[in-house]
Amino acid sequence: MTKSFEQIDKVDLEVELVMTTLKQMFGYDFSGYNRAPLKSRLLSFCKEYQVDSVIDIVKPLLHSPSISKELISYLTVTVTEMFRDPVLYQFLREYLPEYYQTKPYVKIWHIGCSSGQEVISLSILLQELNLLGGSKRYATDLNPMALEKAKRSSYQLANLKLYIKNYLASGGSHEFSKYYVVENDSAVFLPQLVFDVKFAQHDIVAEPAFTGADIIFCRNVMMYFTPQQHLAVVNKLVAALPKGGLLCIGLQEYIPDEVKALRKLKHGVPIYERIA
Ligand SMILES: C[S@@+](CC[C@H](N)C(=O)[O-])C[C@H]1O[C@@H](n2cnc3c(N)ncnc32)[C@H](O)[C@@H]1O
Repeated sequence: MTKSFEQIDKVDLEVELVMTTLKQMFGYDFSGYNRAPLKSRLLSFCKEYQVDSVIDIVKPLLHSPSISKELISYLTVTVTEMFRDPVLYQFLREYLPEYYQTKPYVKIWHIGCSSGQEVISLSILLQELNLLGGSKRYATDLNPMALEKAKRSSYQLANLKLYIKNYLASGGSHEFSKYYVVENDSAVFLPQLVFDVKFAQHDIVAEPAFTGADIIFCRNVMMYFTPQQHLAVVNKLVAALPKGGLLCIGLQEYIPDEVKALRKLKHGVPIYERIA
């Protein structure tokens, strides 16, 4: 039934128009993301860029596409940290040496790598286990601005206190300062930590998954999806993994009950193995 003029939430409609423009002009598909946070992010984008209303974002998007990068950066949540959920890294520290023995090299894919702290964390762990040389890694994200930061591997010194706390909680016992050099107010992590990593823009919703990864990190990405989109992406990741392949998700995330092909490896640790 058609809604009356008063019943229509005009801002919701404007949000849909921005989403349709992003999809048709640039291929970004936000149809499976929870609507309320997207709406509030668009409203704060308007405030920051002094745009009168959400609909006024459409015209610049159509005529000056460079704004799309800033908008995507605004719409995606890029909050991250090193050794986030130390319990996962603690588990990997014990589990990976034997896992690597079964293969000539291990392919790892970080989906939604944001500004790269997750990638560097795994690099440090693999280096300490002497496994870095036996790894091939891909790190992808939808957000091109976050990827640029990831490639620089340079982070505010002010964040290091938390990173070091997480590192120690994950079982790290080395002097953390050996992994970076200080430049102005930043810690720039050593290039040899990411020599094997290929960074690329990739949308796990709109594009097919890469096949051939033994371990997929897709952490704190799916929590922004609707339940249907969440299930669709988990199924896509399962199909991309070989049997015995591993999927790491965020500690606050879950695997839908419908997915029977994954088995949690250890209670309290957000890591799953493909068993069927
Ligand atoms: C909250 S960060 C998580 C970063 C890191 N994985 C972690 O757990 O700390 C979520 C990242 O997912 C990315 N993202 C969101 N939707 C995506 C999609 N459809 N495909 C790929 N990356 C996506 C965002 O741009 C953002 O950088």
